[in-house]
Amino acid sequence: MKIDLSHATVPARHIEEKRELAEKALDRLWSGEEPFTGWVRLPFHDTDDMVEELLNTAAEIWTKCDLFVVVGVGGSFMGANAVLKALGPEIPGFPKVIFAGYNLDPEMLLDISRQVQKNETCLCVISKSGTTLETLVAFSALKEIMVQKYGKAANGRIYAVTDENHGLLREESMASGYTTFPIPQDIGGRFSVLTPVGLFPLAAAGVDIKALMKGAKDMAEDPKWDVDAADYAIARVCLGESGKYIEAHESFDPSMEQFGQWLKQLFGESEGKEGKGIYPTVLSFTRDLHSVGQYLQEGTPVFFETMVLFESTREDLTIPDSAGPQLSGLTISQINGCIQKGVLAAHTKAQIPVITVTMPQKDAYNLGRLIYFFELSCGISALMIGVDPFNQPGVERYKQESNEEIRKLRPEK
Ligand code: PA5
Repeated sequence: MKIDLSHATVPARHIEEKRELAEKALDRLWSGEEPFTGWVRLPFHDTDDMVEELLNTAAEIWTKCDLFVVVGVGGSFMGANAVLKALGPEIPGFPKVIFAGYNLDPEMLLDISRQVQKNETCLCVISKSGTTLETLVAFSALKEIMVQKYGKAANGRIYAVTDENHGLLREESMASGYTTFPIPQDIGGRFSVLTPVGLFPLAAAGVDIKALMKGAKDMAEDPKWDVDAADYAIARVCLGESGKYIEAHESFDPSMEQFGQWLKQLFGESEGKEGKGIYPTVLSFTRDLHSVGQYLQEGTPVFFETMVLFESTREDLTIPDSAGPQLSGLTISQINGCIQKGVLAAHTKAQIPVITVTMPQKDAYNLGRLIYFFELSCGISALMIGVDPFNQPGVERYKQESNEEIRKLRPEK
């Protein structure tokens, strides 16, 4: 893994000026004394028992069902979705894992209900609070289908991942006998992918969660990555201060688009408060080179780019002769590599700041490393700009307003 800031257009002097601030932020994260920083030391804890338990339950699921429906929203689904889409989305021989409850689209829910009816299904609800509207709605609708289909045996096919001690979902799980996995109290939604929130759906899908955790642990153990995570955070803060207040998270591998969505949530919800923070957006190349590529090259220069690149692909294809003498005999990844270099050259010539994060390959181990790297860097940058990375007061406000509207639909009692 290599973080390259040489095209970030941030003078080395500016990085050095902010280093102390970044180190203070890092110390706060590692101190174990800040609320909601349980994820920082998580890879060092003995997670083997938790992973074994998840894998044992996943093994039961593999024999029971061919469809595993995961209900959750925000941090309760985006991490698992990101890793699964990057590695799958379906792993042969394992249940198909689909996600529900991340919107309020009745057509989508009905489509999933039909899939539940047609397939041997297990249902998993993930919510730390147990009160999230989208999750409650989808879970209640799908649970009903499960009960219609399996009767009392439905409860043996329902799984819950929720707060380790509190909440309505925990109470329901206890009362109904669902198999449950805890979300540690000191880990919030968007930092929870390496807890059962992300690991359980991934285990059910057949992803190598031991490798994912090993990647995160190797990252957490090596102080070199603290420095790199801090440098990336410093570069982002400097870029934000110089008017580059949009970050495009980019990949040349379309299966990484949902990883970009996870990054968007991680950074957007952690930094965007008190009138501060960089606005994160996600681009997938080469598709988006043919849409906003023009804007990137010549539009209002208020953004910078962070590219996640891979040195190799799992499979490749040789271009046939019919493509003409310039292309025939080359592989698709060779051409993709040329486009990566071409975009980097064109954008840097136009003075657009570009940061690259290069991984040897796309697998569970390397995704574990990336997850930990970005979580740590995000924690650092949010603390550097003086906001609390772990709350989301703005989200709470839209929820309150929406609940008011829902109350208006009810006749007065
Ligand atoms: O990052 C967060 O904290 C949020 O995105 C939550 O994950 C999201 O709102 C879902 O919350 P819950 O898990 O309580 O249903």
